[in-house]
Amino acid sequence: MSLYVALEGIEGTGKSTLLRLIADALSGDGHEVLTVREPGGTPAAEAIRHVLLSPDYQVEPWTEALLFAAQRAQLAAEVIRPALDRGAIVIGDRSVYSSLAYQGIGRGLGLEAVRTVNEAGLCGTWPDLVLWMVLDAEIGLAREDVEDRISAEGLDFLEVVADAYSQLAGLEPNRFAMVDAGRSINEVATDALTRIRNKL
Ligand code: TYD
Repeated sequence: MSLYVALEGIEGTGKSTLLRLIADALSGDGHEVLTVREPGGTPAAEAIRHVLLSPDYQVEPWTEALLFAAQRAQLAAEVIRPALDRGAIVIGDRSVYSSLAYQGIGRGLGLEAVRTVNEAGLCGTWPDLVLWMVLDAEIGLAREDVEDRISAEGLDFLEVVADAYSQLAGLEPNRFAMVDAGRSINEVATDALTRIRNKL
């Protein structure tokens, strides 16, 4: 059975480490597992990633939102949709829900406007399950190793984004599973795997 799982949350919640752990465990269960990270994941999408995250460019909020949607449309068409069609489990380090939180609410562009452009590009490829990694923004920022143009916005912005994720979870309680990211990585992974296996 195919399943599209998205790992979401602010910076520093341990999404990338968790991604590797749960991908290995699910492969061990006998599933075909494909992992992707956004922004990026295809040559065109990686080129867009550079424009999005490099501190060298000045990028307007709507340019940012549209470029995130553009790289995502490419990743969905080239990688995610074909994998789901084969029956694979796709696990994404971030997804459309990052755009809803960071651009829709964080940048104040509006949830519905950002949702609409993403829906247009995604043609129905949408996460079935969002593992929402919850962590205090101050701890997340302190844990972050590499700073990019967006995380350089600092604590106030990250707090708005953290709150945005709670709003999104409230709107779609069946799609969102809250995971306390303040625990050890093994506890977090066990919890995340239970949520995924329940969904399967
Ligand atoms: P990422 O490489 O996942 O960084 P991190 O490991 O620090 O979470 O994402 C880079 C930045 O891009 C991060 O600050 C979140 C931001 N972002 C958005 O603002 N909108 C989006 O749609 C996505 C996918 C990421």
